Amino acid sequence: MAVDQSARSLVLCAPLLLAACGGPPPPSPAEIAARAATLRPADARLAELYERSCKACHTEPRANAPLAGDRGAWKARLAKGRSALVQSVLTGFNGMPAGGQCFTCTPRDFEALIAFMADGAGR
Ligand code: HEC
Repeated sequence: MAVDQSARSLVLCAPLLLAACGGPPPPSPAEIAARAATLRPADARLAELYERSCKACHTEPRANAPLAGDRGAWKARLAKGRSALVQSVLTGFNGMPAGGQCFTCTPRDFEALIAFMADGAGR
């Protein structure tokens, strides 16, 4: 007689419930744009590259680029992996011209600029 009774209760819903509530409301698009305009990489060389290229579009909501410091917008991009994002900058991506208008940036610079914009923390 085979009695197969595995009485295991799995509690799977707790993480879903936690994600649905709590925390401050997300910032409005206007707040995100206002904050994007104030951000600057802490590293002086990187800041100079940024201000001459990425900043023009990545702080301008009408450019339809993910804004600097807009973690929500960058989350989906980061899911592609950093090397894929660097590749998007190198080759251009829809509204973004190849090289993101930075003609002296190296792939490492692009990676650092992406990390800065995705994170929103001056570094
Ligand atoms: C002329 C405007 C412009 C400039 C300058 C620019 N970008 Fe962009 N960028 C865009 C737009 C628009 C998008 C969104 C394209 C889309 O998703 O259709 C984008 C998207 C991206 C993405 C996401 C790519 C992907 O695969 O999802 C990265 C990474 C990025 N930009 C990095 C940079 C970096 C780094 C610089 C500066 C070196 C830069 N961009 C300069 C307009 C620009």
